[in-house]
Amino acid sequence: MALTDFDLVLFGGGGDLSMRKLIPALYARDRAGDLPATAQIICVGRNERSTAEFIETVNENAKSHINEKTFSQAVWDKFCARIKYVALDASDANTYQPLNDALRDSSSVTRVFYLATPPTLFASICHNLSARGLATEQTRVVLEKPLGRDLASAKQINQEVSQVFKESQIYRIDHYLGKEAVQNLLALRFGNVLFEPLWRREWISDVQITIAEEIGVGNRMGYYETSGALRDMMQNHLLQLLCIVAMEPPLSVTPDAVRDEKLKVLRSLKPFTQNTLAKNVVRGQYRAGHVNGVAVPAYRQEKTADPDSNTETFVAVKAEIDTWRWAGVPFYLRTGKRMADQLAEIVVRFKSIPHSIFAQSTSSFQPNCLVIRLQPDDGLQLNLMAKTPGDGMRLKPVELELDFAETFKAPRMDAYERLLLDVLRGQLTLFMRSDELEAAWEWVEPVLRYWEQEGNEPLPYASGTWGPAASSSLIGRDGLQWREEA
Ligand code: BG6
Repeated sequence: MALTDFDLVLFGGGGDLSMRKLIPALYARDRAGDLPATAQIICVGRNERSTAEFIETVNENAKSHINEKTFSQAVWDKFCARIKYVALDASDANTYQPLNDALRDSSSVTRVFYLATPPTLFASICHNLSARGLATEQTRVVLEKPLGRDLASAKQINQEVSQVFKESQIYRIDHYLGKEAVQNLLALRFGNVLFEPLWRREWISDVQITIAEEIGVGNRMGYYETSGALRDMMQNHLLQLLCIVAMEPPLSVTPDAVRDEKLKVLRSLKPFTQNTLAKNVVRGQYRAGHVNGVAVPAYRQEKTADPDSNTETFVAVKAEIDTWRWAGVPFYLRTGKRMADQLAEIVVRFKSIPHSIFAQSTSSFQPNCLVIRLQPDDGLQLNLMAKTPGDGMRLKPVELELDFAETFKAPRMDAYERLLLDVLRGQLTLFMRSDELEAAWEWVEPVLRYWEQEGNEPLPYASGTWGPAASSSLIGRDGLQWREEA
């Protein structure tokens, strides 16, 4: 679907996310021919500088995040000509006149405000846009994470933003939902008849969801110290993946049909108790170590780190979903920085065969397992048992592999490219609704409170490993292993 002409306003336009992700994503869609000729990108920042000076920064910074193979100077020059820079104080409506001047009539062009700012500014930006008459019925607003620090602050954001924008105008981004593999999971589950009958407690033994990163906190210490792995990754990305794996078939892919089903999953997550908080949650922090053969410092020794910081860089939990479909099936979720590998995957393990008709014992049959890989490349792996060739009847595990890049050979889209296109098209399916956001916070909140009360340090783990030993025990207690440790 072609895009209509638009004015896209990036608050935090000179910030890290804009430079690393948003501007490169917009460039990529311009290169693909998706952006209307007169579409404008208005970058808003606090510093006084001209558009020409801002474009110099874009040239130095954002350009370096574009894949060289897809770079074309001619497209880049045309793209940069769309950019305008506007300096204002986001918290002061009296400084918004240059933005009013830069915008065109919102009844003839799509107007989007993308708030890539700290969430503490969301409310005042929305109120100021309203006060300046810039938030009209057709305007859309995009909210970047973190969407609050806990349930109360998330509710506060929802409530303040809703005073200016209707729910149908609000796009809460979780960039994991824009990843190709996540969409493919929808295709796998609801475009094939094969898996759905087995996708339940009768046939699935457990599900593991891992997002492991090799990178440390880098230059994001200021933000990360207020966040930690639970808020940064678990409350949003991991729970969104869990929703897509566990939800019932939605009636369609319309926004509310999908979001209603995701909400039901979040609301059916078994709440933590004192006992399960102690047993089913592991919190870790990286120490010095080696990642890919390179020596890296401990979290507490990173630049500008608090040497006594108790912020977690790793979290693993065992979650349960109290529904007919999933009762008794453990969902193990984990994420961490400075881990042994850079990967994101969902592992669905099926039950063992009930009885062996072969000479081999039942326990020698590896249960079937479906691995949905999101990163570094997207693909699927299905583990089956097959007969080894030759005389006799010996079965052994084999793998069916599907590499999407190989199969489709089509250019891949970054998550932000897809999500920005969806915002510009007014397609809300891949964005979180306010009640989803609050339900996710509601589930993680007891963990935050428990850690505060308990006051213990996170468990140490060496950089370049799979996290604290307690993470292996968490799953080991149930007689299982993380896939990478098996
Ligand atoms: C972000 C987190 O939301 O996701 C980062 O704030 C994290 O800490 C990043 O590194 C991971 O995203 P991806 O797409 O690189 O896996």
